[in-house]
Amino acid sequence: MNAPLPPSANQPGPPLWLLAEVTYRCPLHCAFCYNPVDFARHETELSTADWLRVLREARAAGSVQCGFSGGEPLMRDDLETLVAEAHRLGFYTNLLTSGVGLTASRAQALQAAGLDHIQLSFQDSTRELNDFLSHTRTFDLKQRVAGLIKDNGWPMVMNCVIHRLNIDYIDRIIEMAVELGAEYLELANSQYYSWALLNRDQLMPSRAQLERAERITNAYRERLGDRIRIFFVVPDYYETRPKKCMNGWGQVFLTVTPDGTALPCHTARMLPGLDFPNVREMDVRSIWYGSEGFNRYRGDAWMKDPCRACPDKDKDHGGCRCQAWMLAGDPAAADPVCDRSPEHDRVRAAVEQACSPAWKGGAKPLVFRDPRRSRELGAKA
Ligand code: FES
Repeated sequence: MNAPLPPSANQPGPPLWLLAEVTYRCPLHCAFCYNPVDFARHETELSTADWLRVLREARAAGSVQCGFSGGEPLMRDDLETLVAEAHRLGFYTNLLTSGVGLTASRAQALQAAGLDHIQLSFQDSTRELNDFLSHTRTFDLKQRVAGLIKDNGWPMVMNCVIHRLNIDYIDRIIEMAVELGAEYLELANSQYYSWALLNRDQLMPSRAQLERAERITNAYRERLGDRIRIFFVVPDYYETRPKKCMNGWGQVFLTVTPDGTALPCHTARMLPGLDFPNVREMDVRSIWYGSEGFNRYRGDAWMKDPCRACPDKDKDHGGCRCQAWMLAGDPAAADPVCDRSPEHDRVRAAVEQACSPAWKGGAKPLVFRDPRRSRELGAKA
């Protein structure tokens, strides 16, 4: 194990948010999955003992919130053990699930383990579209799981990824969330990473669809008041200023992938020229403060123009490094979502195509996430 580095002037605060991606296994095949397209190349998983150590090290390094995610985290038989340890350590614990695998007995076991909250994903409000988009028959199961969440007294966050194929049914999605008793509803427009980037032409809504959906959401917010909190996340391609991705590189967010690679965001492993450490070889504190991967895009010394001279650089930190790599071919470039980026035309062209009356995205088949496809795509990369 490497010894923790001494504090320095540039040292960030602790990794407050730990995302434990405990497995890439998942029974669903969502066309907008944020797991890496080549996830099948990273099939090995940390053992229970490794995860318990990671939880202890992260808590000692100052982490306070722990999300258990995947893949489908319920595919791990030891999830209850991990949640119990996270709870004992004082983490606020959160399970991000499709619902597959959450039986009444596992729900009780997770309740006994101290799980604080569950985020349940739906793909749509109708069985047909939900099951088509996930390529599984899971709609009825998700409804039952929503009941289990309520029966066990957990606050329920319902999450639905929004895109061209379901955005016109946003009213029905909101009504379903209310009927199922969700306290929070996240209408998260798909962001174009990983599998969603492969399917961008098919998934990107038009501006008119987006504006209508926002109007409807606002009307429901007014009507429903405190009964449910609704978050509507706009796809950043429709913005002119980039998001402060992950709240800043290596500032609060630490992801540990199933094989133990530690990352500042879900998709950073694709970035060229960066070696990310593995929790099997380095302790969490050293990873956070001392590793090249986490330090590379901290501060602003790495920035190029136009970010370097930009008055907003402290606000948005140049946007997303992964998006800069995917769209501009340079992870240190300005995020092309920014209209000051010389590559902004790429974003504008994608939006124009989605808004064109001659939109052709529907003619292309969706690429659904699955391990075989992942291996093929990984071999090409
Ligand atoms: Fe990797 Fe934005 S998703 S920095």
